[in-house]
Amino acid sequence: GPGETQLEVDRRRVRERIAALRRRLVHVSRTGELHRHSRAQVPYPTVALVGYTNSGKSTLMNHLTHAGVLVEDKLFATLDPTVRRLRLPEGGEALLVDTVGFIHKLPHGFVDAFKSTLEEVRNAHLFLHIVDGSDPHCAEHMTVVERVLAELGVDKTPRITVFNKMDLPGARRPRPAAGGASCAISARTGEGVPQLLRQIGLLLAAQNERLTIRIPASRSDLLAELHRAGRVAQQSLHDGAFEVTAYVPAKVAGRIRKEVAATSTDA
Ligand code: GTP
Repeated sequence: GPGETQLEVDRRRVRERIAALRRRLVHVSRTGELHRHSRAQVPYPTVALVGYTNSGKSTLMNHLTHAGVLVEDKLFATLDPTVRRLRLPEGGEALLVDTVGFIHKLPHGFVDAFKSTLEEVRNAHLFLHIVDGSDPHCAEHMTVVERVLAELGVDKTPRITVFNKMDLPGARRPRPAAGGASCAISARTGEGVPQLLRQIGLLLAAQNERLTIRIPASRSDLLAELHRAGRVAQQSLHDGAFEVTAYVPAKVAGRIRKEVAATSTDA
């Protein structure tokens, strides 16, 4: 206002800018919660891409999209551009979520925004830790990422360490400190990606629940859901009901049991 010195004007502008950024942060974190809530209704397990900045996460997302493995899902595409539906080679589907790249020293004040995107990671069933195998500092970067995951309390979540950029001369594949599965790919050429998809399928299937259930023939929609969500090992029609054994995510099994119970009560 009139009479303010330049310094006072600058201070006021900075304060206003900080206030505006805070409001946006709160908004980001709230819409994040909304997305997670609507996703919790979806019967697919979540796979989160994590990794040091520049490791190739977006390039892998793009490759999978062009290979037709990632399905453009209208619901998710509008809700959140970083989530896609992933078709697994052995059947079943998962949600693939991209996250922000990790860096060594987060500028003060970015920490909140960073942590809110990483909420995604807390709910994941599986991580793909993407590592730039051509970077001479890749071992340090892996340590930074593992440390952040430990801070988030998710070091027990299964993971695949994915060494990327194998098309570059001198790209390496050091032993992952965290142990567990690893594989080598080039997100640019697509080399190694089919093997990665098979590993994802296997690790998710290992978390599936065995469901043996009689589904009334009138509810073929539930049978279709089992086929979409996982693997149907056995199925036959007896006395007006499908007798099914399937391996599906626990939340699908729970939902199907509830639906069948409700249908039987209605009948
Ligand atoms: P952040 O957004 O910072 O987290 O990065 P990101 O992990 O999404 O990395 P991005 O996909 O943007 O890739 C970073 C750079 O590496 C880009 O220039 C890519 O073209 C390149 N790149 C990614 N994957 C490969 C690969 O397999 N081979 C080669 N040669 N380059 C790659």
